[in-house]
Formats: sequence, C-alpha cells, structure tokens
Amino acid sequence: MPINKVTDAEFKVIDAAVDELRSYFSNKADELGRPLTYLIKTYGCQLNESDSEKLSGYLEEMGLIESNTDKADVIFFNTCSIRENADDRLFGNLGVYKSVKRENKDMIIAVCGCMMKVEKNVEKIKKSYPFVDLVFDPQQLHLMPLLLQKSLSSKKLAVDIDNIDYIADDNRMPIARKRKFRALVPIMYGCNNFCTYCIVPFSRGRERSRDFDEIINQMKQLASEGYKEVMLLGQNVNSYGKDLGENKSFPDLLEACAQIEGFSRIRFMTSHPKDLSDRVIDIMAKYDSIETHLHLPCQSGSDAVLKRMNRHYTREQFLRTAKLFREKVPDGAISTDIIVGFPGETDRDFEDTLSLVRECRFDSAFTFQYSKRPGTKAAEFEDQVSQDVVTERFSRLLDLQNELVFESNKNLVGKTMEILIEGESNTAPDILTGRTKCNHLVNFTIPSELGISIKPNELEGKLGMVKITAAKPYSVEGVLECLIND
Ligand code: 5AD
Ligand code: SF4
Repeated sequence: MPINKVTDAEFKVIDAAVDELRSYFSNKADELGRPLTYLIKTYGCQLNESDSEKLSGYLEEMGLIESNTDKADVIFFNTCSIRENADDRLFGNLGVYKSVKRENKDMIIAVCGCMMKVEKNVEKIKKSYPFVDLVFDPQQLHLMPLLLQKSLSSKKLAVDIDNIDYIADDNRMPIARKRKFRALVPIMYGCNNFCTYCIVPFSRGRERSRDFDEIINQMKQLASEGYKEVMLLGQNVNSYGKDLGENKSFPDLLEACAQIEGFSRIRFMTSHPKDLSDRVIDIMAKYDSIETHLHLPCQSGSDAVLKRMNRHYTREQFLRTAKLFREKVPDGAISTDIIVGFPGETDRDFEDTLSLVRECRFDSAFTFQYSKRPGTKAAEFEDQVSQDVVTERFSRLLDLQNELVFESNKNLVGKTMEILIEGESNTAPDILTGRTKCNHLVNFTIPSELGISIKPNELEGKLGMVKITAAKPYSVEGVLECLIND
C-alpha cells in the first residue's frame, strides 16, 4: 500500500476549503442569529482522542463552537473497531439521529475512525443510515474539510475511503487540545505486527513514523506554550523510526524529548514486549521528567497462546523485561492488557495467565474478553472458546487483578508523593484528582490551613505533594501538603 506524505500544496487546498467553509458557516450563523455548534463523540483509544482534537481544530477554524448537547449543528462519530461491542454501540447511537435529523435538516452528521475502514460498515451506513453526510477513515482525517465541502455542495453522502496510508505533519494542522496541561503527540501511525486477533493493522494501515525533527519542534513548542504533560502515542512506539531509514529509534526520541525543559511528565504508549529495548528502561530510570510507568501488554501468560496470537515473545521473555523494569525503576508501575478466551485457550493456558499476573503483580490491567473480528486470522480459527467458559475465566481474572491493584494502592498509604493535578474529581467539588509519577490515580483534598485560594480548575497541570491517607480498590485518597513552584 503506498504511503504518501501530505505535501504543502495539498495542505494549501485544504486550508482554502477551511476558509470557504468558514464563510459558509458564518452566513448560516447570521441567518439563524446564533453561532453554529459541533459535537464529537470519540470512542476507543488515545489515538482516536488525538484525531478528534484535530477534527475539533478544523471545525473551530471554520467558526464552529464546541457543544455538549446532542442537538449540535455538526456531529462527528469517531469510531473504534477493536471489539464487537464498539460496533454495536455506534449503530445504536447513530440510530437515534434519524429523528433528530428529521427535525433539523441542516444538521451535518459525519462518521469516521477505524470502523470506517471496514467496507461492510460503510455499506451498512449507506443502506440503513442514509441521513449520514460524510464518511472517512483515519488515514483521510486531514481531508475532512474537502469532504465536508463536497457533501454540502452535492447534498449527498461524501465518502473517502481509499487505500493510501497518508502521513500529515501535525504542525501543519489546527489542534484544539482537550486539556490545557496535557498534549497528545502521535509519533507514529499504523501497525505492522498483525497480532492474529487484532483489526488495527487493517484499520490504521502500515507503520509510518513522523519525522524526528518535526516531533522535537512540536515538543519544544508545546513546552513553550506551558504544557506540563505529553503523551507520545503509537500502536507500537518501540518500532518508531524503523521506516525512516535515518538511524533514529524510539530510545533516541524519548531521550531527546526528556532533554527539553519544561515538562513534568513525559508518558508513552503502547510498548510491544518484543520491541522494548533495555535502553528505554535505562532512559526511564535516568530522566526525572519521564513517567515511571510502563504499559506493557502481555495478552496471555501461555506460550502456546502467545504463539497463536503471533506476539513473537515467550512468557519467559516477558517476565525478564518486567523484572528488569522493577529492578531499574524500583518505584515504577507496570500496567498491561490481557485477553481472555482467545481461540484454543485451555484451562491450563488460562492458569498460566493467572500465574503470570501473580508473578508480575501488575499495578493495573485492562482485561478484555476475546472478540472475534472478521478479517483477522484468529476469526478463522476453529476452536473458539464458549461464552460460558470465557465469562467464568474473566471473572476469576478480575478478582485476582482487583486484589493486586488494591494491594498496590495499600502500599502507597503513608507516603508523600508528587502529584500532577488534573482538576476537579467527578465525585465532589472539593475533591481534586491527579496522578502520581507512576500513574496511580489520587483523589485529594486541600486543607484550609494551607491558605490556597486558587480555584481547582486553575490548579490543573500544577505539581503538588500529597500525603496518601487511604487506599480504595481503584484509587487512593490523600491530603495536599504543598504545591511545587514551577
Ligand atoms: N478481542 C479482545 N481484545 C482485543 N484487543 C485487541 N483486539 C482484541 C480482540 N479482538 C485488546 C488487546 C490490546 C487492547 C488495546 O485491546 O489487549 O492490547
Ligand atoms: Fe494490534 Fe498487535 Fe498492532 Fe497492538 S501490536 S495494534 S495488538 S496488531
């Protein structure tokens, strides 16, 4: 499949479309006597979150204002295809808009994201959801303004699903960031691994690394704008640079990022255990600004299953990496992803997963029931595990993992830890939330005797020292001792 770097000339055509759409929406706003609004519903992973920030950026350049009601003038569904229930959710939510659109004929509805790379889903939209105005897949994201223009002028569904894996310079796109302290920075797109259960290599195409200097320039810019946390994103960050032919690898990039002044936390995900080099662990141990948290999906603890998943590492190799990380980053945390009920998984295989979980003592885990994804190799495997067995295994794994997370949280009680403040918690207005350097979630209060008069939302992105006072199953509670000046 060809890989195309979006050229400056192409960006100029896109910019011209944005200008034209700005005057279109401004005329509409004059007609209606109110500004036009947009809403983006984002499903799935952080890469989708990052894509949505770019869509927001374009829509805001067109003069639209973000809204959180379902009655917005422009609605985007940025979809995820990783598991079947995500598909069901989209079609369920989309169905509701049939009547909403009947009331507001000028409303614009767009569906994009990974599900739109699956032809069957696009066909289903054409047939059963004819009120949708535009459809495009993640590779065509930068082309959205052109498609929107096309759909408005033709009054028909505009679809762009071609087979080109584009790579577009983030510095050339408007990005409306969701959080004022956190910046999502994709460093590469796509995946070449073809784990047999996974749809991502089909939905997001071949690996394309962003230019090294382009990323560093963006990082310097973000630091100068005051961002405190950056998240370097990729399906498999450790294969960054392999396609650039410039001798630049992920550890080089991570180290260069850590040397930029101004960031409190540099995070990265996801690491594939087969590609994580010891040098990455050394760099994590060396630089204070790098989060001491490693997201390292094991998927299974059984060699036989790992082989059929096409993961290219053994249980022993995984354990070696986890052990090395624990030795070199003693206060660090490891999180993981685990799939239960992969085709052919026996009781014995599952026991191997439980014992790996016990041995690694993961600080947190995302656990998934295997979901058959048409088009992947594993979907063709004959020995699919029955739902009853999957449900029973899944609940045993959850019980074990919950116990370990609770223990990991209990170990923090009594410690005073540096927290990056994220803002108000969802629970109560006087409780704030933040994360430790190794990504533990902390809910904390500010004692009145500290005399802090800053509003909670103005504390976002600031560092503070918090004494941990209690452990909960999924978080810890604490009390702020002081803010750290930056
Ligand atoms: N079924 C269940 N879980 C899956 N994942 C990816 N594909 C599937 C699937 N078909 C999980 C993996 C991956 C995480 C992002 O989603 O654990 O690491
Ligand atoms: Fe999917 Fe495997 Fe690529 Fe991760 S590494 S995105 S699980 S194919």
